[in-house]
Amino acid sequence: MTATVFTGIAELVTNDPDAADLLGVHEHAALVVEGAEVAWVGPAAQAPPADASYDLGGRAVLPGFVDSHSHLVFAGDRAREFAARMAGQPYAAGGIRTTVAATRAATDEQLTAHVARLVREMRRQGTTTLEIKSGYGLTVRDEARSLAVARQFTDETTFLGAHVVPDGDPGEYVDLVTGPMLEAARPHARWIDVFCERGAFDEDQARTVLAAGAAQGLRGRLHANQLGPGPGVRLAAELGLTAVDHCTHLDDADVDALRDSGTVATLLPGVEFSTRQPYPDARRLLDAGVRVAIASDCNPGSSYTSSLPFCVALAVREMGMTPAEAVHAATYGGAAALAREDVGRLTVGSRADFFAIEAPSHVHLAYRPGVPLVSGTWVGGRAI
Ligand code: NIG
Ligand code: FE
Repeated sequence: MTATVFTGIAELVTNDPDAADLLGVHEHAALVVEGAEVAWVGPAAQAPPADASYDLGGRAVLPGFVDSHSHLVFAGDRAREFAARMAGQPYAAGGIRTTVAATRAATDEQLTAHVARLVREMRRQGTTTLEIKSGYGLTVRDEARSLAVARQFTDETTFLGAHVVPDGDPGEYVDLVTGPMLEAARPHARWIDVFCERGAFDEDQARTVLAAGAAQGLRGRLHANQLGPGPGVRLAAELGLTAVDHCTHLDDADVDALRDSGTVATLLPGVEFSTRQPYPDARRLLDAGVRVAIASDCNPGSSYTSSLPFCVALAVREMGMTPAEAVHAATYGGAAALAREDVGRLTVGSRADFFAIEAPSHVHLAYRPGVPLVSGTWVGGRAI
């Protein structure tokens, strides 16, 4: 196996959970990669010899972003809906059906090419692990093929047949989701998700869908408390789900439940940006001891951004997070939201997934919003 030493790192963010500081920062550091894994991290002056070396020229290096929430399998866009919202129209979950119609009409090749384009965008912005949901098919065939397309890009695939009721009777649709649709989706999915919100699925329906998924070996996650207060966050905590996403409208009992269960609260600031809604209060969650992740929710309706640097900047400016907390939430937090310990950190034995920025520290990601700072991304030790 070839070992490469990366030198010239002004600041190396390791997210080492045993470090004294949140990000486990080493200044004037080196990183040794052997095969697809991190073999050594530490001060540049003590770096061991390696077969090859690569000088990063004074840049900062961070663990690759872990985007734990995206909906990349879709066709068409909803730019007109966005423009109408910016002119004062409210966001409504029903817009999902517009994308469902476009997605059903697309070929597998079109869907695959579109996901590939979005994944390339993500990689250019430092994302090295991503989750992709279905949810714009909503028939047995279209959910299964959406997941098969997603699987070409990641193992972190999520069955979201319970996104909205496409048409007809909600009870019959839940039977379809928990029966034949789940059966067809299961081979391509690791997770199961429900949009638990007024206008989508209620608490009982969410329980039913999650239980059916669990019986088939799929781990649960939830979309909850996005558009208003509701039972979803407490349900996620009660069921001990790995993550519950959005968490915009929370009362004290929701926050306590999240702290006690250890369920990761995944915040999606691109949604509040794009729907012009109040941002979730990350400060309150962090101060209460809740585990927090930041993800993009990349989708054509509520958050058409693939950029975690943008989400980090929003989290810092609008959600009360420090730059260090936001970077941690988009890397280590994202990994926790996918129950992964091999990514979201750069410690010995972790995957060599990282990116370098045209700047001396992680702070610049929020300090220089909108600037394409990522100069290189490595996945499993390979530059991409
Ligand atoms: O995460 N909340 C539900 N699903 C997406 C929105 C999808 C859409 O509007 O197309 C979300 O925000
Ligand atoms: Fe979503």
